[in-house]
Amino acid sequence: MSKVIAIEGGYKLNGTVRISGAKNATVALIPAAVLADGPVEILGVPEISDVEALAILLRELNCDVSIKGDSIRLDPSQMEDIPLVSDAVNKLRASYYFMGALLGKYKRVKIKMPGGCYLGPRPIDLHLKGFKALGANITYDEVEETYLLEADELVGHSIYLDFASVGATINILLAAVKAKGRTIIENAAKEPEIIDVTNLLTKMGAHIRGVGTDTITIDGVEHLHGTFHEIIPDRIEAGTFLIIAAAAGEKVIVQNVIPQHLEALISKLKEMGVQMDVVGDSIIVYGPQKPLKPVHVKTQIYPGFATDLQQPLTTLLTQADGKSSVKETIYIERFLHCEQLNKMGAHIDVDRASSAIYGPTKLHGARVQATDLRCGAALIIAGLIGEGKTEIMNVYHIDRGYDNIDQKLITLGAHITRYEIDA
Ligand code: EPU
Repeated sequence: MSKVIAIEGGYKLNGTVRISGAKNATVALIPAAVLADGPVEILGVPEISDVEALAILLRELNCDVSIKGDSIRLDPSQMEDIPLVSDAVNKLRASYYFMGALLGKYKRVKIKMPGGCYLGPRPIDLHLKGFKALGANITYDEVEETYLLEADELVGHSIYLDFASVGATINILLAAVKAKGRTIIENAAKEPEIIDVTNLLTKMGAHIRGVGTDTITIDGVEHLHGTFHEIIPDRIEAGTFLIIAAAAGEKVIVQNVIPQHLEALISKLKEMGVQMDVVGDSIIVYGPQKPLKPVHVKTQIYPGFATDLQQPLTTLLTQADGKSSVKETIYIERFLHCEQLNKMGAHIDVDRASSAIYGPTKLHGARVQATDLRCGAALIIAGLIGEGKTEIMNVYHIDRGYDNIDQKLITLGAHITRYEIDA
């Protein structure tokens, strides 16, 4: 059986939607918390399947976990150094944060290759380069597809990242917070989720400076203690709802947003002619404005235009009057959504790391595949504005990262159902 999201298009959305805690912060905060010697409570946890998979991994490590509403409480005091080789590792990319966290905690970790969305090649060479620089010996077992990382001790070192990778920056931080001496990460990533993770680590007693700049300095400490933390709002979920509102809304208030995290998207939407007001931690979108103007988007590391938002924005660009383009510089193969949108009547050409979107095109319902999480979001938007019924398959991708998206949209007036089919 396979889950389907079915959308009857053409209903105008109105009302308020509250954004959940950031998925990409959550999936790093949970592994980070195991570095503590006592209980850590994290609030604002989104209800997504990536969190369920992380909870399975924590229990495999004998870490006490309880999830109540949007709060997770972890008590790592009885945790053990057990290899992470179950299928739960493959369910999400972020299981690789246990590499840094367990290496930092036990100086040893055995873990399967991580899973996650297919966005083209996703190497982890920079993570490994960082662990090696700190003193880890790394072996990879091709038969078992597992990494073994071991060190007699971890010693601080200078590490230059050839690319400002989010994952490598966080993973090296996790391994370095309890290493001996000073670690310096140069050309570090600056995404808000990294700042959130360092805020938790600092509350746990870590000594970290420079986060949010190119250079992060970590002075290792012997012990980290339990604490309490609230996750920042999800800028990608917020951005997705801004695009949804621009495409299918009349007046939609997107609440619990840090507008500074969304500057690149907000300026592109304004360039397209979308009307918005930023009021404190809410953004009010008045839509749909017609005609929308075409724009050219190039994805970049933060604070540039987020790669995670180019897929949902592409659906809105199908409604702009003229030729728009998207150039990917982060994941050059992140264009599988275009073929699905074309099945719904879009006219998009993909050439190497770019797409050209010719609009406006009238979209219609079809049976389409969510090939990855943000493709799923792009298809939901297409379903909301398309004529007739859209059936989205491979819903598990969407459930990995969007907290109750159907329910949030239904509250705004969308006509959405879920069911299972034989597939
Ligand atoms: N890269 C390497 N070597 C490495 C690490 C990365 O070549 O060791 C390359 C990647 O192949 C990619 C680029 O560097 O081309 C960026 O990768 P990065 O490490 O920055 O991304 P990530 O940590 O794997 C996180 C988010 C992604 C988001 C990217 C970029 C999580 C769990 N994932 O991935 O989120 O697209 O940063 O902002 O935080 C999503 O939410 O849909 C998603 C895919």
